[in-house]
Amino acid sequence: MTGSVRETWGSRAGFLLAAVGSAIGLGNIWRFPGEAYESGGGAFLIPWMVAILTAGIPLLILEYTIGHRSRKSGPSAFRSMSKNAEGIGWWQVAVAILLATFYASILAWAVSYTFFSVTASWGDEPGAYFTEFLNVSGEVYQFGEFNWGIFGALAGVWVVSLVIMAGGVRKGVELANKVCIPLLVVLFGALVVRAVTLPGALDGLNTFFTPDWNALGDYQVWVAAYGQVFFSLSIGMGTMIAYASYLRKKSELTMTATTAGLANASFELLAGIGVFAALGFMAYNSGGPVIDEQNPIVGGGLAFVTFPTILNEMPGTELFGFLFFGSLVVAGVSSLISMLIVPLASFQDRFGWDRKKTVLVIGIPMALVSLAVYPTRNGPMILDAVDQAVTPYGLVMAGLASIIAAFASGKIGRLASDANRYSILKLGAWWYAFLGITAVVLVYILLFNLVPDQIDWYLNPKEGNTLSPDQVLITWSVGAASILFGLVMGVVMRNKPVPQTDEDLENAEEEASA
Ligand code: ALA
Repeated sequence: MTGSVRETWGSRAGFLLAAVGSAIGLGNIWRFPGEAYESGGGAFLIPWMVAILTAGIPLLILEYTIGHRSRKSGPSAFRSMSKNAEGIGWWQVAVAILLATFYASILAWAVSYTFFSVTASWGDEPGAYFTEFLNVSGEVYQFGEFNWGIFGALAGVWVVSLVIMAGGVRKGVELANKVCIPLLVVLFGALVVRAVTLPGALDGLNTFFTPDWNALGDYQVWVAAYGQVFFSLSIGMGTMIAYASYLRKKSELTMTATTAGLANASFELLAGIGVFAALGFMAYNSGGPVIDEQNPIVGGGLAFVTFPTILNEMPGTELFGFLFFGSLVVAGVSSLISMLIVPLASFQDRFGWDRKKTVLVIGIPMALVSLAVYPTRNGPMILDAVDQAVTPYGLVMAGLASIIAAFASGKIGRLASDANRYSILKLGAWWYAFLGITAVVLVYILLFNLVPDQIDWYLNPKEGNTLSPDQVLITWSVGAASILFGLVMGVVMRNKPVPQTDEDLENAEEEASA
């Protein structure tokens, strides 16, 4: 493939916007307040902050350096560290595919609800309306019965996303983010201002900000915090490696990563403030507590049931409904495209395909699988099962693997010196230490808590399990399949060289003479 020149971002701001657009998504507006709610409100903020500063930002920097140094995405980027590491890139491709295919379907629900807001068509009983909307069958393996409304919205989500991807880095991804991020700030900003001026908002905010020190001893709160940070910062899915691979050589990396990480965290706090203020308002009206332990809100309930309930009690239901669900859509699209870039850019770089071919050969089949599985009556159950495989395990384990690969390949020092050449915040012992500590913490959580707990959960189904044994089987199967895919591709591709561009050859010469 000699002769071709790699696309680049139009500017540093363009890359930063795309990185922030990738990070800010359903994870901030819906997942974060939901996780905080389930972990007792304020208790969640401390592990969440610790995870951002000690794991999130150092790993974000690692992913930027891997992509920037190799100027390749996914498998080719890992291969540039060591031939043995290529499989990690393929594993992340599988994780990104799993994630993108179900993430698109939640976006399709948000698209539908944006339309429903125009007439507040959820009526007086948003819970019953949502149940009817999803029309879940209760049978995990009962495929083929479609909810055609969701199917239509999902088809729309895929068409828009694949058109953006076909536009390439500058005219597709960068342009989409230049539209999405300012729009999101306006839509969501207006909503938060309204929420904090509602009666009872202060009680909601007190619940959100009051830490419960006892919860810090509960490992599940820590697991939830790490999972949230990985999901929210788009770490462990190969996105940031791919995005950074389109940076120019003389690019600032470390301050950019820190800025993106903090911008994402700020938006997450803003979402928490907006949602908890609204929960406070609901409690004020009902006379109940902000967090009702007898009747907890789980899963999609917060966005699609609680919010419409709150909106019903506010003046301007339709307008604020439109702002909320519109924000979910806009934030979600800019994240979805960042997941799609992982498989698309990986196949482009590793096999020398062009962009259109990857959209046709990889993007369209992904859309078809997503359309076949998720807008069905059993789709939401599969979604919960796959989410369980991806979020606490897939992202965290694949992120952990990238730390191990960076150290074990002996390239960590080169990555640091590459970043230090043009970066403001210099990488040194602190960075190695944070990565090392993160690796130890993650291994500990996985080996001693999460995995044994899950096995026990599967073998001894208990009351209160949110997933059925059939769903847990799907969780384990897709998790194992993604690792297997990584291993097999790592072996199959071992002796096949990465197609070189003229630029690659120049880089290699420069490095040899350095
Ligand atoms: N980072 C994306 C989000 O938060 C996946 O939704």
